[in-house]
Amino acid sequence: MEMKNSDFEILHHKEIADGIFDLTLKGGYLEFEPGQFVHVEVTSRLEPFLKRPISICDADPNSLKLVYRVVGKGTKILSEKKPGETLKILGPVGHGFDVNGIKQATIVGGGIGVPPLLGLARKMHAQGIDLEILLGFNSASDAILISEFENYGRMKVATVDGSLGYKGVVTELISDKERTVFACGPEPLYHTLEKQGLKGFYSLERRMACGVGVCLGCNISVKEDERILRKRVCYNGPVFPIGSVVWSDGNG
Ligand SMILES: Cc1cc2nc3c(=O)[nH]c(=O)nc-3n(C[C@H](O)[C@H](O)[C@H](O)COP(=O)(O)OP(=O)(O)OC[C@H]3O[C@@H](n4cnc5c(N)ncnc54)[C@H](O)[C@@H]3O)c2cc1C
Ligand code: FES
Repeated sequence: MEMKNSDFEILHHKEIADGIFDLTLKGGYLEFEPGQFVHVEVTSRLEPFLKRPISICDADPNSLKLVYRVVGKGTKILSEKKPGETLKILGPVGHGFDVNGIKQATIVGGGIGVPPLLGLARKMHAQGIDLEILLGFNSASDAILISEFENYGRMKVATVDGSLGYKGVVTELISDKERTVFACGPEPLYHTLEKQGLKGFYSLERRMACGVGVCLGCNISVKEDERILRKRVCYNGPVFPIGSVVWSDGNG
């Protein structure tokens, strides 16, 4: 689906865990690739500085769901918006997870990386892919979207403090190393996936200026067919094959 700038009315907006908000907008996307994101203009006055990239948690032709954590000025302004207000949104942006030919998959989500995996789980479930869903959080108080994911596959949850599910980090729950992994979470999680020799895809996060492939501000080095190429996270990604990012090259 072609990227476009549209006005979206806020349908629901609520805090679902400490500092984490579910923002559901009216009028979604007929088609999108899970893993793609949108740019949200949080205020027209400071534009373009406060356009913020947020992953598509899920979407259908009638609604667009975003789940975000308040970390700074832009997301704080966003969190104060009320149902009925309108937001300008550019999307869908980037390239998401490719599920073509996949029969068995393990979804691995960590913290605020969990939301973009919900639309992916729904899509994989609809395609009959055998799905194992592993979600990790620091604590039960920041566990999100658990009941939504349960509809789509066999699920296990890990918390670092042991307050919900398995006590430990989510990668310790991976038992079958042959399955294709679809991951979104903090970069240490990706390093662990690589050390375990797992195959699949992870979604990267970088500070973005233009967010549409023009400024080269989100460049990273990626190994492809034994060559090192410069790629733009916003345009070529944010999803890349596990093991392809050259972390030592100023990317990590
Ligand atoms: C492709 C993509 C998808 C994203 N999806 C989501 C999502 O679904 N939910 C969600 O909560 N957040 C998501 N983010 C992160 C989100 O864009 C930032 O948290 C947001 O832009 C911060 O804006 P701010 O004005 O509130 O904070 P700022 O005042 O700009 O920054 C506050 C703090 O957050 C850090 N920060 C800001 N942006 C980033 C970033 N891109 N990566 C790492 N650290 C950052 C800053 O270094 C600073 O410490 C995504 C980012 C990208 C690039
Ligand atoms: S942010 Fe400008 S090219 Fe990616």
